Amino acid sequence: MSVETSKTGWKGIVLAGGAGSRLHPVTLAASKQMLPVYDKPMIYYPIATLMLGGIRDILIISTPTDLPRFKELLGDGARIGCQFEYVAQEAPRGLPEAFILGADFIGSDGVTLILGDNLFYGDMQFFRNALARHKGGTVFGYPVQDPERYGVVEFDETGKVLSIEEKPTAPKSRYAIPGLYCFDNRVIDVAKNLRPSDRGELEIVDVIQRYLDWEELRVEKMARGIAWLDTGTPQSLLEAANFVATIEHRQGFKIACLEEIALRKGMINRKQFIHLSEELSKSAYGGYLEMVLRDLDG
Ligand code: DAU
Repeated sequence: MSVETSKTGWKGIVLAGGAGSRLHPVTLAASKQMLPVYDKPMIYYPIATLMLGGIRDILIISTPTDLPRFKELLGDGARIGCQFEYVAQEAPRGLPEAFILGADFIGSDGVTLILGDNLFYGDMQFFRNALARHKGGTVFGYPVQDPERYGVVEFDETGKVLSIEEKPTAPKSRYAIPGLYCFDNRVIDVAKNLRPSDRGELEIVDVIQRYLDWEELRVEKMARGIAWLDTGTPQSLLEAANFVATIEHRQGFKIACLEEIALRKGMINRKQFIHLSEELSKSAYGGYLEMVLRDLDG
């Protein structure tokens, strides 16, 4: 018996391709987004974020080589009350290609794109607020010490967006744009009409700029209580793992446990959850699922 799925008007895409070259040699023969961040594969974290937003229809995009492994790991999603689909990206031609490759999957809905190496932790209300709006685009601004590594947004004193730049050598603000983007259905056409930049890629900042030109862009500053970590370098990967380990050890709750999220959000029922915990019973992760049940019975 499966739990009724609700229609949110949103689809989710996890972009989990690329060469992972900043992590070589680790990623020479392994997908970056499959690497562990402490106790679970990296891709669990962006999937968890989408699920916490209430998104159940999720497209996973990866390289032709890695895609079969993701299918093996995640299946069709039914076991956790989701529907996963898969599309290969032949070459890393840029983030907006996700909207072109995902056009059929998106259909007439809005779409949230999340990068497979981005990890969010904290109260996800900011994300649900963005999903409550169905017209225009929403991206986020998060203060960092090294904005030159990211897309950067500049605000005036009233909070109005002045500019959006990709990896500027002289950043105009400390606000990086995390890899979580919510757009209405027009993003498919926007992406299809982009031209590659000087570095030969379709650029997400060009998509964001289009919504800014239309005056239909919102940039929400993320509260300081939210952790946004990316895991693209050996140092940031280690920091993310340490962060997850610290919180999980302190609280006894896991971050991004997909089975737990599915149960708590009513995406699967208790019987389905017990079945999942039995499947994993030989691992500490499975033991955790049993603890979740006891906690709920509490
Ligand atoms: O992490 C947030 C940043 O992500 C944003 O602030 C930037 O505006 C955005 O361009 C992006 O910057 P990155 O330097 O992290 O982009 P990168 O090319 O490394 O790609 C991000 C992830 O997406 C990476 O895990 C690989 C994957 N990817 C990338 C491209 C270009 C794909 O799967 N396909 C692609 O075509």
